[in-house]
Amino acid sequence: MKYATLLDYAFQALKNSYAPYSRFSVGAALLSADGEVVTGCNVENASYGLSMCAERTAVFKAVSEGLREFEAIAVVSSKVNPVYPCGACRQVLREFNPRLKVIVAGPGKKPIATSLDKLLPKSFGKESLRRR
Ligand code: THU
Repeated sequence: MKYATLLDYAFQALKNSYAPYSRFSVGAALLSADGEVVTGCNVENASYGLSMCAERTAVFKAVSEGLREFEAIAVVSSKVNPVYPCGACRQVLREFNPRLKVIVAGPGKKPIATSLDKLLPKSFGKESLRRR
């Protein structure tokens, strides 16, 4: 799938964002290894700390539906683009693919591609738990 198409899915998901407190809507679209797209948006709460990011919404939706292999995630916001996943989301995404492609929107919604190992270098993961 083209990165521009994955970005479009993220922009669609952004429309469902529930962000009455920050007014900062975020959409994400996760591409699985077998070509499925699972989207997510941020979902805020009156108890602010319980708010959930778009990326983690997408990952938890996908994993709960039986998907575990991911190739790429697109992330967009209603206000500032490009916007990159927060630290907590980077760690959650890393669990399933430390080299996941991360696609964000540049000027004119043009895709900008980077990868999770660049955004979260020297990361902690399941390999780190193995005794040597
Ligand atoms: N947010 C995301 O959904 N993803 C990120 O990577 C950064 C932040 C949301 C959380 C909150 O609802 C709003 O953006 C402002 O922080």
